[in-house]
Amino acid sequence: MKHVYAAALIGAAAVAPAAAQEIKIGYALAEDSHYGVAAKAFEESLTAALGDQFSFRHFPSSGLGGEREVVEGVQLGTVEMTIVSTGTLSNFVPEAGVFDVPFLLTSLDHARGVLDGEIGQEMLAKFDAAGIHALAWGEQGFRHITNNRNPISTPADASGLKIRTMENPVHIAAFQALGAAPTPMAWPEVIGALQQGAIDGQENPLSVIVSAKLNEVQKYLTLDGHVYSPAVILIAPSLWNGLDDAQKAAFDQAAVDAVAAMRGYVDEVEASGVEALKAAGMEVNELTPEQKAEFRAALEEPYKAYEAQFGKELMDRIQAAE
Ligand code: PAF
Repeated sequence: MKHVYAAALIGAAAVAPAAAQEIKIGYALAEDSHYGVAAKAFEESLTAALGDQFSFRHFPSSGLGGEREVVEGVQLGTVEMTIVSTGTLSNFVPEAGVFDVPFLLTSLDHARGVLDGEIGQEMLAKFDAAGIHALAWGEQGFRHITNNRNPISTPADASGLKIRTMENPVHIAAFQALGAAPTPMAWPEVIGALQQGAIDGQENPLSVIVSAKLNEVQKYLTLDGHVYSPAVILIAPSLWNGLDDAQKAAFDQAAVDAVAAMRGYVDEVEASGVEALKAAGMEVNELTPEQKAEFRAALEEPYKAYEAQFGKELMDRIQAAE
């Protein structure tokens, strides 16, 4: 009799489906943001390809901490995936900081062409040496300044402005050169710091300003588009290296689908975001090309440092790329 039970148990074990491997995916913004729609598109694409081999647990709105902590988690394998800005990434892959240079990428088409092309793909390949596997470049759009002190049309208007920047040396150097008072801060602290008046302003693309409802804590929006803001989809090497070729191909395709969803969101918010923010009470001004040129001219000194750090040749290649 015992043998019958044993055989039944062995049979049951043989047909029991393998448990899905859980993927914790963390991101700084809400589920209805560009990061949230990308994470959802990733999950849907992977599930369509691989069935229930993997299950997803989403941690939106910095549920796993600031972007630096989450990237560290990906390195350690305690977080399987994230979608992050390049804010803290140059602390992990310094070369990637070249995409943070103000006024280097000049339009969404230019940026997408560079990131999808040779230069962007060469950069993604450098992440593995930092203990992170990068699946694809996504994006946030062009960053603009918001603040509660005054409208900004010239660098002089930004003088002394306590502006939160990402923990990113390239951005900090630029705001110092403009005469502002850059205050690097992790994103989860920003809304509170704006509410308490500890900082006057911050800078982020329309995708963030709209999805994080910054209009509730900021009066003025200056559409200066001082820098393009890439995002990147990262996966823990401990997960990636254990995948077989078919699974890797499905993850790569899911990243392509996630980027398409993210860019779709950005295109939409670039078209409708300003009107929505005006309707919500923000005072908006857009810099003319001449005004923008004044901001660029104020960055001569940091530009010398950027060229020394990243190489003039690479910066010229980026500028010349289609
Ligand atoms: O400003 C930042 O830190 C980033 O743009 C954000 C909002 C965390 C999105 O990656």
